[in-house]
Amino acid sequence: MIKIAVFASGGGSNLQALIDAQETGLFKAKIGLVFSNVADAKALERAENHRIESVAITSKGYLGTREDYDQEVLQLCEAKKIDLICLAGYMRILTPVLIRPYLWKIMNIHPALLPKFGGEGMYGHHVHEAVIKAQEKESGATVHFVTEGVDAGPIIVQGHVKVFPNDTPQTLAEKVLKVEHMIYPEAVRLFCAGKIKVADGRVKILP
Ligand code: GRF
Repeated sequence: MIKIAVFASGGGSNLQALIDAQETGLFKAKIGLVFSNVADAKALERAENHRIESVAITSKGYLGTREDYDQEVLQLCEAKKIDLICLAGYMRILTPVLIRPYLWKIMNIHPALLPKFGGEGMYGHHVHEAVIKAQEKESGATVHFVTEGVDAGPIIVQGHVKVFPNDTPQTLAEKVLKVEHMIYPEAVRLFCAGKIKVADGRVKILP
């Protein structure tokens, strides 16, 4: 059985969507760990409510380097025999220390249609503000594999929403979040079913 770790720094609504999908049997995998860099993240509470093991290592004030931090996280994931890491609102950029051993086994969800509106500094409301400022007619969400470039890894699934002239960053965020809750479980389902192949830096979904 594939064992998943979900990493979250905040509210964890995507974590909840993954838990719900697991409980309805959408994918054959077990969310065996919820990890956070924020000790009081609501995501940890959600894990406890569903009796999922949760671990926090506070990143604020952490004395070592970013690599030291990721080394600890790597050890944790290896000790727990984690097969897939799902970043779900995890507000840290991973270092190669974690990315390399878990290449093509770490997914992230981003609240825009990558490759547009991604990269460093493009998170949360900044993304939706930029989409509205650019007068885009559509936006959406992207699940992609994590590589060493921020938001630059191969795209697995995208979901689209229309952007209307009266949309605000808040209304857009709400619409996009609903799409996120659908596409993240779908990406995990594809992974667990062995339907995702990566070749030449691109994802291929097998029939
Ligand atoms: C989502 O918008 C996700 O795309 C981004 O962070 C947000 C997390 O929301 N990476 P939640 O904590 O899952 O509710």
